[in-house]
Amino acid sequence: MAEIILGIESSCDDTSAAVIKDGFLLSNVLASQDVHKAYGGVIPELASRAHQVNIVPVVSEAISRAGIDTSEITAVAFTRGPGLLGSLLVGTSFAKGFAMAIDRPLVEVNHLQGHVLANFISQYGAENRHPEFPYLCLLVSGGNSQIVRVNGPLEYEILGQTIDDAVGEAFDKCSKMMGLGYPGGPIVDRLAKEGDPCRFKFSKPHVPGLDYSFSGIKTSLLYFVRDRIAEDPEFMEKNKADICASFQKALIDILMDKLIKAAAQTGIRQITIGGGVSANSGLRNRITEEGRKRGWVTYLPEFKFTTDNAAMIAIAGWFRYRSGGRTSLDVAPVSRLAEF
Ligand code: KG4
Repeated sequence: MAEIILGIESSCDDTSAAVIKDGFLLSNVLASQDVHKAYGGVIPELASRAHQVNIVPVVSEAISRAGIDTSEITAVAFTRGPGLLGSLLVGTSFAKGFAMAIDRPLVEVNHLQGHVLANFISQYGAENRHPEFPYLCLLVSGGNSQIVRVNGPLEYEILGQTIDDAVGEAFDKCSKMMGLGYPGGPIVDRLAKEGDPCRFKFSKPHVPGLDYSFSGIKTSLLYFVRDRIAEDPEFMEKNKADICASFQKALIDILMDKLIKAAAQTGIRQITIGGGVSANSGLRNRITEEGRKRGWVTYLPEFKFTTDNAAMIAIAGWFRYRSGGRTSLDVAPVSRLAEF
């Protein structure tokens, strides 16, 4: 009998619902929240209110686009954490109520597992390449920068992670310092395509092992911009593409140095990326290039599965459901999940 999973995602500022049937995507609906743009970052209270407005129409649209009846749903998967508590509360409460109403099991999903498993979403008419276990996932978002060894769908080992800021924060801060807007990653990415990545140099961190650090490079950019503007007030405007290209290259170099090291240490050649920053065109090109050079088999998620989306929650929920994972109706969301 077919297994149909309804996935619900509300960890930050995107309300999303998706339906997958035996691993194949039937629908993936997303409502983004523009309300935060005016503030240059996500305002938690506004995010949770917008989720409350969006959740019913988004889920309803996902079910209708999937062309299924609610009675056909096998289980309801939802993001339990990590994320903004008020946002998670909306998705969790809705998922609980919905599962109870249709009398189907509830399955909690760790948002990060969703990103790590995004490459398993199958689509009709697509090539559907999936990584083999074990593989390495470079998980890069606004809240995380990790190298994860994925031994099985539910078996993870964090080989390295940031000791301070996430790489997405570095992209966002770069954009903010330069007055370019929010969220910064896509803006920096776009400008970087027109700039010279070798024009400016930024100091790289010296962190032992496979861990990362991005706070120093942020400060390095701050001083660089401040000093150059003191010499020439027009400096930023005249050089923004080169600054973005150079800063982006420095961030990618940092990410890649440790990923290459992790691949060499573990002997694993199946390499994936996940999380919002995996949409970065420079990073995608570099992984593909390094993969070709080093004999890696690389998997890049489609753009729509890089940022927060419920399709990845549904696929992760499906894996968990199949291994017997069930969540009690008295579950509460958690802003930080202790184990991965
Ligand atoms: O995974 P995600 O959607 O949200 C969480 O962190 O939960 O990641 C958001 C991050 C933001 O920092 C955003 O600037 C970054 O992903 N991002 C990008 C790009 N698209 C999104 N960073 C670099 N290049 C991009 N094209």
